[in-house]
Amino acid sequence: MEKKTVLSAIQPTGDMHYGNYFGAVKNWVELQKKYTCFFGVVDYHAMTMPYSPKKLRENTWDFIINLLAVGVEPNNLFIQSLVPEHAELCWIFNCFTSYGQLTRMTQFKDKSQQAGGEDGFISAGLLDYPVLQAADILIYRADYVPVGKDQEQHLELTRNIAQRFNNQVGKEYFVLPESLYTETPKIASPADPNRKMSKSLGEKHYINVFGEENRVRKQVKSAVTDTGDTPEGEMSAGVANLFELLKAAESMQAYNSLMGDYESGALKYVDLKEAVADALAGLSNQFREKRQELNGNKKEVKNMVKASSEQIRKRAQETVRDVKELCGLINVKY
Ligand code: TRP
Repeated sequence: MEKKTVLSAIQPTGDMHYGNYFGAVKNWVELQKKYTCFFGVVDYHAMTMPYSPKKLRENTWDFIINLLAVGVEPNNLFIQSLVPEHAELCWIFNCFTSYGQLTRMTQFKDKSQQAGGEDGFISAGLLDYPVLQAADILIYRADYVPVGKDQEQHLELTRNIAQRFNNQVGKEYFVLPESLYTETPKIASPADPNRKMSKSLGEKHYINVFGEENRVRKQVKSAVTDTGDTPEGEMSAGVANLFELLKAAESMQAYNSLMGDYESGALKYVDLKEAVADALAGLSNQFREKRQELNGNKKEVKNMVKASSEQIRKRAQETVRDVKELCGLINVKY
């Protein structure tokens, strides 16, 4: 049987933290074993909010290197703007998208509030963001999209666009993509275990995947264990987060033995923290080494990802050619 196709994409940000890694990227690495995968670093999407051009380019390359360092296969990786057909298909899809539905998107409402807060400027790109996302997915005729709950609405819109397109052109051209739910760990901030690990909360709130060993250990050691609001007999959010990290890092032996201690009331927080620090520092050391190696061959790495983007672009071009044919646009033979 032919392998099913998976598409996922991520916006380039400077660092990668353990929330990103355990919550999404590690899953990408796993999915590669079973599916034909397309993983995009979506720089066009990163322009929808106020941004710095210089930083965007830096972040895009840094993020590519980070993804490679943690085990994403170069052949599966592309940079969105190196496949400009995404933007072309987005335009075509705009004409198959309900304007009202776009204005009702939760992410648009949230982000337009943030964006508008600065100087009142909200780009049309921000409104159109989910249509570009639909193009990202449908251009590879993906069967599955591994997404979190927050992206479910965008996937629904993607299916609506595919359906409207199919109806209008009178052919079941696009398969309707489904979301692929995998139980991925939700990692909380070490400084505030009631909130998600996040870069935007500030330095104390995330642990960098490529952090120096000392820093990683220090951050684990200073993680909040008791917030004082835990009901009697329940595990506090901070302790639960440490156990979650241990499990996510696959330190099962330590996990089982410490969980045994917890259940018998003999758990010492220092032991738990020590085990988590060992697990994360071990991973970080390995990832940092790999990244250093990649950074030493930056030119080759860039060329490699440009080449894989070019390869992936061919599939995108096929789709766009079909689409233009189906919707009455003019194609040149190429
Ligand atoms: N919107 C996604 C996010 O904010 C990123 C994204 C862009 C994406 N295009 C996609 C995710 C296509 C899955 C499929 O996380």
